[in-house]
Amino acid sequence: MSSEHVSTPRSGLRVCVVAGDDAAPEVVLPTVALLRELVPEILFTQALSGREAQERYGEAFPAETRAAIDSADCTLFGASGGPSRPVLWYLRWGKQTYVNIRPVRWLPGYQSPMRQPERIDYVIVRDNLEGMYPPREGALSELGTLTSSGSWWQAPPVQETGAYAVRVSTDTQARRVAEAACDLALQRLASGYPGCVTLGAKYSILPQTDGRFREIVREMVREHPELSYQEFLIDDLGRRMIAAPETLDVVVLGNEHGDILADVASGSIGGLGLSPSACYGAEYAYFEPVHGSAPDIAGKNTINPTAMLLSGAMFLAHYGYREQSTRLERAIARVYSDGHALPVDQGGSASTSDFIAAVRSQL
Ligand code: NAD
Ligand code: IPM
Ligand code: MN
Repeated sequence: MSSEHVSTPRSGLRVCVVAGDDAAPEVVLPTVALLRELVPEILFTQALSGREAQERYGEAFPAETRAAIDSADCTLFGASGGPSRPVLWYLRWGKQTYVNIRPVRWLPGYQSPMRQPERIDYVIVRDNLEGMYPPREGALSELGTLTSSGSWWQAPPVQETGAYAVRVSTDTQARRVAEAACDLALQRLASGYPGCVTLGAKYSILPQTDGRFREIVREMVREHPELSYQEFLIDDLGRRMIAAPETLDVVVLGNEHGDILADVASGSIGGLGLSPSACYGAEYAYFEPVHGSAPDIAGKNTINPTAMLLSGAMFLAHYGYREQSTRLERAIARVYSDGHALPVDQGGSASTSDFIAAVRSQL
């Protein structure tokens, strides 16, 4: 499985860095600087996208950037605020990074709005390729031509002006996302977690897509008697993330459900500044925070780099640099538990650079 960590460091690792739009470079560039210090042998190559690429090459996603992504083993990506979206699309569908791993873990010092945030320690496994993505929309009038529309609960309003969106779910993708969830649950079981896979979907209303996803996940978990399984309708699962997060271990979700609930989960630990992620395919991986380009705080040196740094720790662990990954995570955890250099979104007054300096001093 591609999302399994390798046991010894990958030698000659080449990493493409695409900093992205708005405030994203403010977290990506210092993260790469720290990663370079931690593992000098990794070769990082920066590639441009968005406005900077437009100015230099005349397009937002130039061939040079695509070649840099292709010739690397993986990419560290900041976020797209629009201009870099073609890069994000390429990292997902071009490189077939089919599963998105989004850990949700509260650490002492995180400003969670929850009463008992220490109960929050689970991982969202999100379908990264299907569902409503990539966008497929069109005029309502086209729907009358679909043979299945005769069996729909309501005839499509083809006379109306309006649009539809298509949601796609293949067995192949459902199986590999289910497999990634099981692999992760087994890994977590081995380190003391419950080994429980929770599926959330709207299987009651969408039997052919979410119902099929549910069936595939359930059967895949059954192949591993040491794992347990629970399933909830997606709306109820959203409530459980707030009311009973301690009942969650590995949560497997479709693409848009995973997108939305990852931000909700992030809010429960203290906000988007804290939530890392990794996207894995059979042949490629990329690492990005859950958050976007935070345009409202761009250029202020206040964006919280924790999510990007923790994505960097996921990157290190994935390629076998476990000791360095743990060092980085522990340094971050110490800065939060000390509480002397909390970023602005965590109720402190440390700038992005102050926070990075505090982490560096704890390494
Ligand atoms: P956002 O995640 O960028 O920001 C939401 C709110 O959280 C903002 O108030 C922002 O300032 C704050 N925030 C986000 N990250 C933060 C951090 N590290 N530290 C402190 N505060 C932080 O989401 P949005 O505002 O809805 O979207 C902005 C742009 O980002 C949009 O163009 C959206 O499409 C894009 N986006 C991209 C990605 C990605 O590239 N993977 C992910 C999400 C959103
Ligand atoms: C995310 C983002 C993206 C998504 C956007 C930018 C397309 O919100 O990575 O969570 O919806 O997947
Ligand atoms: Mn999102």
